Amino acid sequence: MTSAHLTIDPHFVVGPINRRLFGSFVEHLGRCVYDGIYEPGHPEADKDGFRDDVAALVRELGVTTVRYPGGNFVSDYRWEDGVGPVDQRPRRLDLAWHSTETNEVGLDEFARWLRKVDGELMYAVNLGTRGIEHALDVLEYANHRGGTELSERRIANGSREPHDIRVWCLGNEMDGPWQVGHGTPREYGRLAVKTARAMRQYDPTLELVVCGSSGAGMPLFGKWERIVLEETYDEVDFISCHAYYEPVGGDLESFLASAVDMDRFIDSVVATADHVKAARRSDKTINISFDEWNVWYQSRYAEVDRITDIDDWPVAPRILEDTYSVLDAVVFGNLLISLVRHADRVTAASLAQLVNVIAPIMTEPGGGAWRQTTFFPFATMSRLARGTTLELKLECPTYPTERYGEVPMVDAVATHDPESGDTAVFLVNRSMTDTIEIGIDTSLLGDVSVEWIQTLHDDDIHAANTLADPERVGLKPNDSARVLENEVRVSLPPVSWTALTLR
Ligand code: AHR
Repeated sequence: MTSAHLTIDPHFVVGPINRRLFGSFVEHLGRCVYDGIYEPGHPEADKDGFRDDVAALVRELGVTTVRYPGGNFVSDYRWEDGVGPVDQRPRRLDLAWHSTETNEVGLDEFARWLRKVDGELMYAVNLGTRGIEHALDVLEYANHRGGTELSERRIANGSREPHDIRVWCLGNEMDGPWQVGHGTPREYGRLAVKTARAMRQYDPTLELVVCGSSGAGMPLFGKWERIVLEETYDEVDFISCHAYYEPVGGDLESFLASAVDMDRFIDSVVATADHVKAARRSDKTINISFDEWNVWYQSRYAEVDRITDIDDWPVAPRILEDTYSVLDAVVFGNLLISLVRHADRVTAASLAQLVNVIAPIMTEPGGGAWRQTTFFPFATMSRLARGTTLELKLECPTYPTERYGEVPMVDAVATHDPESGDTAVFLVNRSMTDTIEIGIDTSLLGDVSVEWIQTLHDDDIHAANTLADPERVGLKPNDSARVLENEVRVSLPPVSWTALTLR
């Protein structure tokens, strides 16, 4: 038996956990919107055409903010196509995903749906083909109470109350050559700062996200963040991070350590933002909006899903519909641990995406909706990781990886909720072979009991939930937990994710 040791001290606080850490992302991509959250004619559809069974799962998932409408999609999107009478809305080419956008769902419908699932709208403006004027137009349409052409148009379209969108993304992945309108960091930084200033001339309290690199592997990573922040520092609140992970060449050991990479990524962006802060002698701190993260089998998209035929522009094609295994969910749960560990600087995050497209929730047209394996760590952490993140001392064995060198076999984060008094601990065993017996030193917490403990694990790490077998995988009670004097001992099976609460 391999062992590990964890010490929790409730006095050492990393920072408050912003509820926006449990955000998600809905893009007009594949079947995320159409035949996903929205399917008029489905037996579960409400009067607006949105599926009630899907909305119930979204609520159960515990999603807070939802980023919309893209993604790559936003960079040639005309927001005004998606408002007004549905039968008069144009069909348009979507260059990002080589699809046809019907515009049946737009800002007003989506904002209404979000109210139903208790979500907060985070809206991305198009800085690919557009700029300041259109950003101001959509802002006025969405947020202005009334009495102007655009705000009255919203009211006439059925949304009497303003949508009051607080968080705005200034474009998407503008460093990526795949992005319509991408440019150099200077070009983008200039456009972003002008747009930000204009938007804040309307409302100085808006929270603005400027685009960081679309991944830590991008050629300009670091330089991009520095230059963009040099241009925009005083006018924005967040810089974005995006990261997707998949096993490369069958190397599961490295894949299981993906959160090591996410930790380094966050630390690098924080260091770059703080360098710009120091150089400007600024009092202001820029935080991170990690507004796209997930496991994504991008190689499959490139080889199988990608549509390129000039005559093929389908509506809501089945693309990016990854099926997630137990292995994927363990890596995914570890990515969430990394985000919560950095709660002092990562103050918003969006799981990409929500339904059907690299998603925790899947649907079948006319049929059911089910939870993927990744649903469970997300729903559990959104429910239990409240209050503050605590500093930990973790001692455990390491193992070698090709990509990240020697890495810890175990990863963990703990949170403390002052309201309930509960301490929650989230643990990952990355070992492919060893069960790990972990001792959690609780002497600084006083007398504790284990209120709740569940583990995601399966002897078949490739097991998944599917249309045919939607409940194959789920969390199961972990009955190994023992409360000793000043210590709680738990067994963590190989390739597993565990959550427990101490009261
Ligand atoms: O989430 C899928 C895509 O990944 C998004 O549209 C884009 O921003 C990123 O490259």
